[in-house]
Amino acid sequence: MKALILSGGHGTRLRPLTYSQQKQLIPVANKPVLFYAIEDVIEAGIKDIGIVVGPNKDQVIETVKSVDWDADIEFIYQGDPLGLAHAILVAEEFLDDEEFVMYLGDNILKNGIVEHAHKFKELNPESLILLTEVDEPQRFGVAELDENGRVRRLIEKPKVPPSNYALVGVYFFKPVIIEACRSIKPSWRNELEITDAIQWLIDNGYRVEASIVKGWWKDTGKPEDILEANRLVLDDIQPKNDGITENSKIMGRVVIEFGAMIKDSVIKGPCIIGKNSQIINSYIGPYTSIGNNCVIEGTEIEDSVVMDGSIIINAGRIVESLIGRNVKISEHDLKPKGCRFVVGDNSSVWL
Ligand code: G1P
Repeated sequence: MKALILSGGHGTRLRPLTYSQQKQLIPVANKPVLFYAIEDVIEAGIKDIGIVVGPNKDQVIETVKSVDWDADIEFIYQGDPLGLAHAILVAEEFLDDEEFVMYLGDNILKNGIVEHAHKFKELNPESLILLTEVDEPQRFGVAELDENGRVRRLIEKPKVPPSNYALVGVYFFKPVIIEACRSIKPSWRNELEITDAIQWLIDNGYRVEASIVKGWWKDTGKPEDILEANRLVLDDIQPKNDGITENSKIMGRVVIEFGAMIKDSVIKGPCIIGKNSQIINSYIGPYTSIGNNCVIEGTEIEDSVVMDGSIIINAGRIVESLIGRNVKISEHDLKPKGCRFVVGDNSSVWL
């Protein structure tokens, strides 16, 4: 079996972060979201991986290649992101008439995909989709099941959802899905929807089975989703201390990476402090990921993600925040007094 991992798209709901970073590279617990997908696919025994890339392709290729994966990874350029079914058509040559799993690179699943891959082999349908119950089904593709749990109908982002079973971004397919992708028309958002292609399979008498996801699942499409994914992943981290601590209190499950320095501070896990970061006279509270090469001084941060190279000095108390790379936040004693901002397009600030 092959794997197709999608890492394209504009990520508009994650602006301004996605002006400079491909959304699947945004870190959750200091690891790009995309890496969780690659790890899950490898864990399921798949060695032949195609990654579909789009607008920031060089960034994705460079980041993926920085790790020595136990798999062959090929990159496929999608050009315009015209939908998930379009991505399959672009990857037709790579897929080479074999069955495959398609994994959306901005999705994270607690328990990976091994169990579902087995189910696909065992039941041998044309497609196996993963479903999970959610509170806001109108944000996702939604499945309507019959009395026997078989998939009857799929609808993309319905205004009136027929159930609260959302389609998780992991799909198993036989090669007939290519014919389905070719047969459908673009949706109202001008995309070839994978949901419509799977519906085409059902309408043409092919078998589509569903597998219910146990454990959490997160689509990291919006800032609050990144923070929630960060909390969920940090809940499972194993503590370690490869850094240096001086006159500090470390409580709960905390990962301190190599070269990090904690001085005169309190760290309360679960949280992670990245390589070569300095935490001085500060409090880092639960559910916080501090990236590599950051400086946090005289500040309290809780329930937040701070990306690589950011410097935060005497900034008071920061909560539930998503802070990009190389950001500077600090107190000032200039005149006139008051908040000073240099904030990019589509940024959000709550004072
Ligand atoms: C896509 C799919 C949707 C699925 C979701 C899962 O939505 O179209 O059916 O539920 O991924 O992450 P999109 O992220 O394109 O809005």
